[in-house]
Amino acid sequence: METKNAETKIAPRYKDEKLAAHWQVDDTRESFDRLFYHLNVTTNIKPYFDEVLARLNLNDDRFAQGLVVADIGAGVCWSSAILASHPKVKYVYAIDPSINRLKHARFVAKHFGVEHKLKIQQGTFLEPKISEKVDLVLLNGSLHHCCNTEIPGLFSNIRQLLKPKGEVLIAGEHYMDWRWTVKRLLRYFYHFHDRSTLGYSLSNLRAPQPFSGDHWRSRRELERMFKANGFTAEFFVHKGLFSKNEFSFCRKLGWHCYYAILWPERL
Ligand SMILES: C[S@@+](CC[C@H](N)C(=O)[O-])C[C@H]1O[C@@H](n2cnc3c(N)ncnc32)[C@H](O)[C@@H]1O
Repeated sequence: METKNAETKIAPRYKDEKLAAHWQVDDTRESFDRLFYHLNVTTNIKPYFDEVLARLNLNDDRFAQGLVVADIGAGVCWSSAILASHPKVKYVYAIDPSINRLKHARFVAKHFGVEHKLKIQQGTFLEPKISEKVDLVLLNGSLHHCCNTEIPGLFSNIRQLLKPKGEVLIAGEHYMDWRWTVKRLLRYFYHFHDRSTLGYSLSNLRAPQPFSGDHWRSRRELERMFKANGFTAEFFVHKGLFSKNEFSFCRKLGWHCYYAILWPERL
């Protein structure tokens, strides 16, 4: 299938990345338990993903024929593996540019017993390299790593990938409100003497983080972005934040964790 294939920008963090211990799953039970402790206990990542799947409801009649899924920016592929474990899911394309992450993905698949249902491939937003139409595209914690210049290419690829009644699930995401921007402004003046190290300027307080490529979009920007790229979106906001520990009131201010289901608008 022909998709937009201009060269993708990969944030420095994801090139030759040194992974945190909880992502380093190998064939030991201990490494798998460590991943699950991170997803379920240290963070709300897995409880939130369960909430998302409950809303999507894979047992619904609209998925009666079974689904083929594309998980783009799948990392070590735990979300792909959870989806692949569902009886309605035929198989999942798990796509990520990071070789360091993908090398752990086959172990994650093995621990879930879904090796036969995961197609693990190196690819990007602009070159997902998926050769068939899919019923569901998942972007789990990856959309905020897609830079604005690549958003049209990503959504154009998604439109081409989706079957006519296909859906997009944006999960594991955050948006920021004005209080977050005020905090950045205060931080800017607090660090005025070494402001060049902040990674943002007074004229662009929400500039993406240069190393990780994290984008700090507002809800309105996201709504406009989905619409401008031909998708209708329904937003759902989680209670709380992804991290369960040590976040002070101040650090939490202005953050919202959300997921959204998108449908292509008919042209
Ligand atoms: C925060 S991680 C989320 C990974 C995984 N979905 C999870 O929930 O653990 C963001 C992922 O986006 C991937 N990514 C970064 N740049 C990308 C690009 N240009 N195209 C596709 N994925 C990208 C990274 O390699 C990383 O695995």
